[in-house]
Amino acid sequence: MSAPLENHPMHDFIYRHQSPRTVFGAGALAHLEREIALLGARRALVLCTPGQVAQAQQVADRLGARAAGVFARAEMHVPIEAARAARDEARRLGADCAVAIGGGSTIGLGKAIALESGLPILAIPTTYAGSEMTPIYGITEAGLKTTGRDARVMPRTVIYDPELTLSLPVPLSITSGINAMAHAVEGLYAQDSNPVMDLIAEEGIRALAQALPALHRDGADRTARSDALYGAWLCGSVLGNVSVALHHKLCHTLGGSFNLPHAETHTVVLPHALAFNLGHVPDAAQRIARALGVDPGDVAGALFDLAEDLGAPVALRDLGLREADLDTACDLALTQQYPNPRPLEKGAVRHLLQMAYEGRRPAPLP
Ligand SMILES: NC(=O)c1ccc[n+]([C@@H]2O[C@H](COP(=O)([O-])OP(=O)(O)OC[C@H]3O[C@@H](n4cnc5c(N)ncnc54)[C@H](O)[C@@H]3O)[C@@H](O)[C@H]2O)c1
Repeated sequence: MSAPLENHPMHDFIYRHQSPRTVFGAGALAHLEREIALLGARRALVLCTPGQVAQAQQVADRLGARAAGVFARAEMHVPIEAARAARDEARRLGADCAVAIGGGSTIGLGKAIALESGLPILAIPTTYAGSEMTPIYGITEAGLKTTGRDARVMPRTVIYDPELTLSLPVPLSITSGINAMAHAVEGLYAQDSNPVMDLIAEEGIRALAQALPALHRDGADRTARSDALYGAWLCGSVLGNVSVALHHKLCHTLGGSFNLPHAETHTVVLPHALAFNLGHVPDAAQRIARALGVDPGDVAGALFDLAEDLGAPVALRDLGLREADLDTACDLALTQQYPNPRPLEKGAVRHLLQMAYEGRRPAPLP
């Protein structure tokens, strides 16, 4: 399926790169105090979910007098009440920055605080979701989730310490890693893609495709943890700098309207969204194929195999979606469409959803 040379598009792009200051390495948490000082801040409110209080408390202990306190009310979808309470708490305790330690939910709470207060955020990601690298926020008010892009919510500094991911359960490590790969896959065929992001996306997919099977064998493999977090950084960077397409629209619909779990939904949908677009994106297919070490016509099937071989869910029905919801999901996914390389014919999108619902392997391109 390699693109004939005469069809190879000529370069045509706009490039810029937004990124927080990024400190990466096993044990990098040791640099936290220095990084807070470099922000010009003196007292940090530490944010986390109820499940990560112990990790957050360790961070606060390390900071000593530089910790204003721990706010452990981060949760999925960032309820506005939690964001307001955190902002009030920061003010009450005299905090002049927030340290968000956790996954996309905790970093999302930090972003919601920053959006209104401008409080600088230092993120310490412990999943592979990639939110720390993006100016994208989401806040839920009265059951309605609003999302947007705003430079104010981008963390100022990110510390990636693979040691902090050792406790991430292996099943969530696999689905979270595939969630990250989805950012890179869609970045490769985004309407505003550019050659630098293409390089980053390919390397991100490659790093995660190598690391995830190793993590499946042994979640305590420190090299694999480092490689997976490195891949997540690259894929998150793609998400922060170019746009997304049908896959993310489907996942936002399924997560937002049917309350399906975030990383698992990305894992199930990705092979099918890629299969839908594959015949229209030969350059992206080539890069994904190189990253996965498979034939370009079978990259969608290869991503399906990766998930299945690593014990991740491959069917929407196993995530709690009902077959009767598929028509509504299809209609919702077709409203306020994200730009997509292949036009969104209703019948074809409905077929995609059926395939994902049943967990069938996408066929290779002929
Ligand atoms: N704005 C963006 O750019 C962006 C990007 C990606 C995801 N998101 C959002 O982030 C959310 C999903 O994030 P997520 O997939 O990281 O899940 P999450 O943040 O909800 O974390 C899932 C669970 O895993 C726990 N956990 C995280 N790291 C752990 C660790 N190292 N050890 C033990 N437990 C750990 C968390 O405490 C939580 O209970 C969604 O709401 C999604 O919309 C936003």
